[in-house]
Amino acid sequence: MQLKTFDSPADLDQYAAQLFAAALKENPESTLGLATGSTPIGIYEKMIMLYEKGEISFKSATTFNLDEYVGLSPDHEQSYARFMSRHLFSHIDLPAANAHLPKGTVTDLEAECAEYDRMLEERPVDIQLLGLGHNGHIGFNEPDDELQGGTHIVELEPETREANARFFDSIDEVPTRAITMGVGSILKAESILLVVKGADKAEIVKQALRGPITTECPASLLQTHKNVTVLVDREAGRLL
Ligand code: F6R
Repeated sequence: MQLKTFDSPADLDQYAAQLFAAALKENPESTLGLATGSTPIGIYEKMIMLYEKGEISFKSATTFNLDEYVGLSPDHEQSYARFMSRHLFSHIDLPAANAHLPKGTVTDLEAECAEYDRMLEERPVDIQLLGLGHNGHIGFNEPDDELQGGTHIVELEPETREANARFFDSIDEVPTRAITMGVGSILKAESILLVVKGADKAEIVKQALRGPITTECPASLLQTHKNVTVLVDREAGRLL
């Protein structure tokens, strides 16, 4: 695991965007694993800047997002599909057909999970961006006695729903379930970029990187991957 600490969030975002840019320059047909949440927003802004400067193109790339809420259609204001469109996709030349998110409104959710895994097998992720939940979740893989490998449906923890309620009018509107790539699918990525910002994540990032490998902290399984880069700001990294 490689750890890099940044004084400013802007420097961290620039560094992360450059890693994605490097992947695209080396292979324009790269498969990028993407995340939502507040952590990647600045990174996407920097990617857009690189695209606008003509340094990178996404026209031959493929993307897979980690997760989507069950029950929110892609045009729902708080769906992750909409988030990605707002913060990245509508600003770059990625063909719509190449951008994949699990579909949270299909009737057969199990079939959707299987189809997502099939697509991931076909186009394995070259570089996977991850944020870190306060309870150690990655994607929506919540702490549990056991974790699932492939894409699956999860019941969201109250803590996760509360954390995400800030984007909704009230907590009652936050969906109770999500579709997420499993930890097994995440670990299949060629390289992984875990990005952690803020003092409130200092303890959990320490547990994830330095604590025991346990399903009670899903991010700790990243310790088993051969090519993980962790980017933290000073506050998040203060216990490392
Ligand atoms: C988002 C995702 C989540 C977030 C995590 C951190 O697609 O999979 O695991 O990365 O909840 O969220 P933020 O960045 O909002 O603190």
